[in-house]
Formats: sequence, C-alpha cells, structure tokens
Amino acid sequence: MHDSRKKRPASAGQVFGPGGSASRAPGGGKDGSHGVAPQRGRGMVYLVGAGPGDPELLTLKAARLLQQADACIYDHLVSNDVLGLVRRNAELIYAGKEKSNHALPQAEINALLVALARKGKRVLRLKGGDPFIFGRGGEEMQFLAEHGVPFEVVPGVTSASGASTYGGIPLTHRDYAQACVFVTGHRKHGACDLDWPMLARRNQTVVVYMGVGQLAEICERLKAHGLPGDWPAAAVERATTRKQRVVTGTLTTLPGRAAHAGLEPPALIIVGEVVKLRGELGWFDSDAESLITHPEPAHA
Ligand SMILES: C[S@@+](CC[C@H](N)C(=O)[O-])C[C@H]1O[C@@H](n2cnc3c(N)ncnc32)[C@H](O)[C@@H]1O
Repeated sequence: MHDSRKKRPASAGQVFGPGGSASRAPGGGKDGSHGVAPQRGRGMVYLVGAGPGDPELLTLKAARLLQQADACIYDHLVSNDVLGLVRRNAELIYAGKEKSNHALPQAEINALLVALARKGKRVLRLKGGDPFIFGRGGEEMQFLAEHGVPFEVVPGVTSASGASTYGGIPLTHRDYAQACVFVTGHRKHGACDLDWPMLARRNQTVVVYMGVGQLAEICERLKAHGLPGDWPAAAVERATTRKQRVVTGTLTTLPGRAAHAGLEPPALIIVGEVVKLRGELGWFDSDAESLITHPEPAHA
C-alpha cells in the first residue's frame, strides 16, 4: 500500500539548492518558517494545498515543506510535476481517491497520519487545489485534533481559481457577476441535490466541482429553474496544466460539445455570462488541442 513512486517522474527536480535543502526560506523562524516548529522527536502533520497542477502555483511555504518532508501522503489530483518536488528521500504514499478507486480508505489515511506523526516524522498531507475546498482536509485535521497530533494547514490555489485564470474567464467581472458560488456536483443518494433556485440566479457565476458526469443534468436543472438555454457555460479540464482543454457553449449546447470532445475529470463547469470573456481573455496555450468554441450570443 505504501508505494508508490509510480507516479513520480524519473527526473524529479529540486526546488531549491543542490543539497536538497532550502537555501533561503521566507519567514521569521529559525528555519525561515512562520509556523510552529515541531519539538525534537515530536511529529507534525502539514496539510498542504498542491494547487491545480502547474507547480509554479505552489506557495513558497508549500515548496519549503515539500523539501522537508519525511513522508508524503498524496491524492491522485496532485500533479506529477508537484510530486517531483517532494524531498527525494521522503516516503511517498499514494492515497488515491479517484471516484471508483480509493487506494486507501479514509479511516486508514487518518490512522496513518497519526501513526507517522507519533513516530516523530514530518508528515506532508498533500492534496490537489486547496485542502479546505471540497478536499476533506477539515475532516482529517479534526481526527488529528482528537488524537492530540499537532498540525498546520497551508492553502493552495483552488482549481476554480486555476481554471478561471488559465481559462481567461474572470469569475466576478463586475459587468456580469456580483457573486460567485462554488458547489459540488457529486451525487448524493443518486441525484444532484443542490439549491437550484439559488443557482439559477442571474448576475452570478456558478462553479461546479466534480460535476462532469452530471453535466447534462446540471444544465437541464438550471434551465428548468429559469436560466435561458443560451446562457453561457464552459468546462475546463486539467486546468493550468499542459493538457488543459476548455470547451465553451451554452446550457443547451455544452453537454453535447463536452461529450464530443471526450471531456473527462478532473474538470470544472463554469456557468455565467463571464464565460463570454474567454474569447477576448483566453491567453494560455496548452499542448492539448484547445477547443475554443465560443458561446452563442448570451441572453439579453
Ligand atoms: C475532490 S475535489 C478537490 C478540489 C480541490 N481541493 C481544489 O481546491 O481544487 C475534485 C474536483 O476538483 C476539480 N479539479 C481539481 N483539479 C482540477 C484541475 N486541474 N482542472 C479542473 N478541475 C479540477 C474537479 O472538478 C474535480 O472533480
């Protein structure tokens, strides 16, 4: 269960100096850290956001902790590029968590975090995006708190931010949106159990995490609750990576276009008039075929 360097690229890079340690880390502590330094022999868990993929979106704090870890437990959304920055001698443990493949059940992940910390290790719990946004990071830290294990949390760039910026879709451009709502499209009891009247409001942007499999249902529900069929919508797959693809359309056309493009998770759905700006503001050219299909004129 503990392997698994299989995801790690052969030529893992180093963030800082050739010695593998940070030549100068930001901050005020002895080791440059702003956080609580673990007492000698006492372990610590660092819950760290790895961002959406591009390793240059890591925070400086995350980059330093990657270099200092004794063990790193990571989820499948952590990109190979980021994983390649983890200290070479660190034990890498794959926790999985694709929809149908949880390499380690949550209870085992929790127990492992506690066990490693109690051995005195610096444990990096690395999660895609931001650990407190649809990442279950809160639940894991609650478990540590209950077991008296010290921890710190480092935010990451959430995928909504990554998809927005690298997709050229400013989520709250003030001409179009006064609010932005993040929701999960993950089915509960077999259905997308969301507050549809609230989501179908105008003057806001809706970002749906984990919604690719439910894209058609989501678009239909938004129309049924009052948004017009020509309301702009987009899906951004593998945001911020060289494989990023963006499909744009409307609530009526997006499901078909996404299916035609073979869009797969991880991807985010963005609904709102801000999607119209991609034609003007899309700046990031990925290696993947970029499907720039502009939405039909938005509803007046
Ligand atoms: C379990 S949630 C984790 C979210 C993560 N904590 C964050 O802040 O981005 C997984 C979902 O995040 C979204 N996601 C994560 N990384 C992504 C990426 N690089 N591009 C597009 N969507 C992404 C997808 O909707 C995916 O199904």
